[in-house]
Amino acid sequence: MKPSSATAQANPNIAFIKYWGNRDNALRLPVNGSISMNLDGLFTRTTVSFNSAKTDSLTINSTPVTGKGLERVSYILDIVRKMADINERAEVTSENNFPAGAGIASSAAAFAALAVAASKAAGLNLSEPELSVLARRGSGSASRSIPAGFVEWQMGKDEADSYAFSIAPAAHWNLADCVAIVNASHKKTGSTEGHAIAGTSPLQEARVADAPRRIEICRNAILNKDFEAFANIIEHDSDMMHSVMMTSKPPLMYWQAATLEIFHQVREWRASGLPVGYTVDAGANVHVLCLGEYKAEVEKRLREIPGVSNVLVAGVGGAAKVV
Ligand code: PMV
Repeated sequence: MKPSSATAQANPNIAFIKYWGNRDNALRLPVNGSISMNLDGLFTRTTVSFNSAKTDSLTINSTPVTGKGLERVSYILDIVRKMADINERAEVTSENNFPAGAGIASSAAAFAALAVAASKAAGLNLSEPELSVLARRGSGSASRSIPAGFVEWQMGKDEADSYAFSIAPAAHWNLADCVAIVNASHKKTGSTEGHAIAGTSPLQEARVADAPRRIEICRNAILNKDFEAFANIIEHDSDMMHSVMMTSKPPLMYWQAATLEIFHQVREWRASGLPVGYTVDAGANVHVLCLGEYKAEVEKRLREIPGVSNVLVAGVGGAAKVV
């Protein structure tokens, strides 16, 4: 088939059981499985056009990108070119509908959309697991933005076996993610560097050994819609990942004072009957999960906490798709 052009769209996702550390950094093969949900309403839309240019090009939100950003995209395009047996370079244009620095990891949505658009434009007809593997090569968490709804990424035995799959569709459980944006003054260390030093923390071995237990509790909490069990396990897992981060060499301390204040408030709210729980990725912003019917109340309360500059609210999202 003649290579052409395709556009795809993907949601970011929030991890409930975190991915932190690789057993193979180049292939992004994780040391533990993870669980997440896609974030509805927030998306990256990417167009890939194979052409006769001499080099690949990348534009994100109307700004040309070169250097490391382009290299990471070309790395995925090279895999696609090899699979499709083509040599054409590609023009890649990408738009996010959510603001940068909003506490939403954009790389997951970006590499999921790129995997779908690039493979389609190259004339490949990849299965969902194959797309998930391809997205994973760009950013581990992107593997989880390929399937719909509530998603599990199995660590897998090898390269082809480490992919994500849906454990429940988006409509299964009406959850909302209220992302409290905290004014972070520090520049964060990116997750690629973070994964590479995870093993320097003496706590990582225990975190990884215990991961199958946490995954099972989280999966069952989602399948049974047991919010109390869900809130307890996501907070426990997030705290464990941050304990590893804080005790790595060099130490990574992502939390700000307001981050901690939100933790205390969320636990008090839950103790007094509001179904809420927190989780934090590689940053200071806090994802506060709640039952969908309480999202307006949770958003209102978060906005009252000093240090919270904005709150973004998302429901459960669907699969990455060609548009
Ligand atoms: O996909 P990466 O390399 O950006 O890593 C994501 C790491 C966390 O967001 C902290 C956890 C996760 O599972 O998404």
